[in-house]
Amino acid sequence: MKRIAVLTSGGDAPGMNACIRAIVLTAHRNQIEVIGYRHGYNGLLKREYQPLHPGDVVNIIQRGGTILRSARCPEFVSTESAERAAQNLNDMHIDALLIIGGNGSFMGAEHLGRHWDGQIITLPGTIDNDITGTDGTIGYYTAIDTALEAIDKVRDTADAFERIFLIEVMGRHAGFIGLNAAIGSGAEQMLLPELVDDGNAIDLKQIMRHVKVTREKRGMCSYIIVITENLYPGGANALATKLTEEMNVDCKPVILGYIQRGGSPVSMDRILATKLGAYAVEAARDGKHLIMIGEQNHNVVEIPLEQTRSSKKPLDPYLVEIQQDFFDLVKNPV
Ligand code: F6P
Repeated sequence: MKRIAVLTSGGDAPGMNACIRAIVLTAHRNQIEVIGYRHGYNGLLKREYQPLHPGDVVNIIQRGGTILRSARCPEFVSTESAERAAQNLNDMHIDALLIIGGNGSFMGAEHLGRHWDGQIITLPGTIDNDITGTDGTIGYYTAIDTALEAIDKVRDTADAFERIFLIEVMGRHAGFIGLNAAIGSGAEQMLLPELVDDGNAIDLKQIMRHVKVTREKRGMCSYIIVITENLYPGGANALATKLTEEMNVDCKPVILGYIQRGGSPVSMDRILATKLGAYAVEAARDGKHLIMIGEQNHNVVEIPLEQTRSSKKPLDPYLVEIQQDFFDLVKNPV
């Protein structure tokens, strides 16, 4: 193996730089050259690349974003795009392509794999943690901490005014950030896609009853609801307006948004990214193909790429249960 390429694609995630660094340093140790494609799959189509040497990755382990830039690339679904990308990779004599990204990027990887003979290895990089086959994804742990820091601040002012807040977190269609943000912040209620039965709308009456009874039991107090984006039509703003009208008490919306994608990666993300990045190069060197490098129970694992989207990754049922138990109105008499 002489030359590999790497790209970051889809929503950027803190730790992507740490992963690029590990790839470059491990490749260097194995006398493998590294090319970085810029702007995700777009760079692959437009031949936008840069050589990556160890000197290029100094002091990036602590930086959010991605030095290679990222993008979504809707046109990459076409056969013509995959063939063009394959041709460009062959012209550059790339033996293996390492793709850091989320579900959409993995679909692109499988698509490219049908048109290119080189090796393809993916690494899970997304704040959403919605990738089957790995316990955590690069960026997820930082996003939780960022959400928690923000919710703690909201809690202070919520407490001071004994107010109700509805806090919207990212996650696309998965409740991993929402669940962990709710647990970590001590939120009184969480609205997650996994907990809303298929086809059922959010039960407004149940939400309001919980707010009312909790405040009756505890005395006037702050009350925080964490909600995952894309769950209620119009998002947290619309739901907060609706709750305010129905309850006749102010419910303030806070949309955390893109702050969850930025910032210096926390230790868990840096270490995960480093471990997976180094392993991915070794796997490429050993001839592996169409796999994702993930982590399960602190061990690095190789997962066939098609398995990463074969089933929906479940939330930790125990975490769900204890959050619900802590605030169960019947089980908690006080
Ligand atoms: O996948 C990461 C993510 O931040 C999701 O949580 C969010 O739904 C989406 O990306 C936003 O994507 P974009 O930046 O393309 O609007």
